[in-house]
Amino acid sequence: MIVAIDGPAGAGKSTIARALAEKLGFQLVDTGAMYRAVAFEAAAAGVDLHDAERVAEIARGLRFEFKFEDGENVIYCNTRALHQEIRSAEVSRNASVISAHPSVRRELVDQQRQVGRERSSVLEGRDIGTVVFPDAELKVYITASPAVRAKRRVEQMREGGEEVDEAEVLRDIVERDRRDSERDVAPLKKADDAIGIDSTEASVEEIVAGICERIAALR
Ligand code: DC
Repeated sequence: MIVAIDGPAGAGKSTIARALAEKLGFQLVDTGAMYRAVAFEAAAAGVDLHDAERVAEIARGLRFEFKFEDGENVIYCNTRALHQEIRSAEVSRNASVISAHPSVRRELVDQQRQVGRERSSVLEGRDIGTVVFPDAELKVYITASPAVRAKRRVEQMREGGEEVDEAEVLRDIVERDRRDSERDVAPLKKADDAIGIDSTEASVEEIVAGICERIAALR
């Protein structure tokens, strides 16, 4: 079974997807982490991030795996675990740049389909229900107000030990939303058959319970 969870940055997707995958015993494929890993590896290799072909080449050389470890969903990139190093503001910006390259997306979408088909999975991203798995058994699109999203992102980054300015994070979020939804390839948008959930006021537990009820009704 494939559960697709899409929505903009900081909407609560990651927390909801993680809780859901753990509850269901499904693999969690964090596709944003894959774009981040490519941005991180490309920068480390000194590649110009606007050079789509060279970035796609980096993506082609990477193999991804996801494992739950101590309640954390860890991404392995060519057997190396990546943690906070892919969560910085710089990697966030770079991931948004490289994710606009069609050749990079093609490569990662192929890998997401392969990884997702291996076992029952929750896939979290921007284009899972629209592009990666348009036939997913369940599609959820999660949103929240930009102010709430910025606040959550700041908390996440502070937990990772990074000092950040909330106003700057909000500006980054609004700018990133614009880039992610206006790009030509796989723009951020809700699939017609996705359930829309606004997480501004609802708790993670309530949302996860609601999604589980939908899944139970499918079985
Ligand atoms: O969800 P996130 O912040 O970790 O995502 C990082 C970047 O990758 C973000 O700019 C959007 C992009 N992304 C994408 O284009 N498609 C996906 N399926 C997932 C993320």
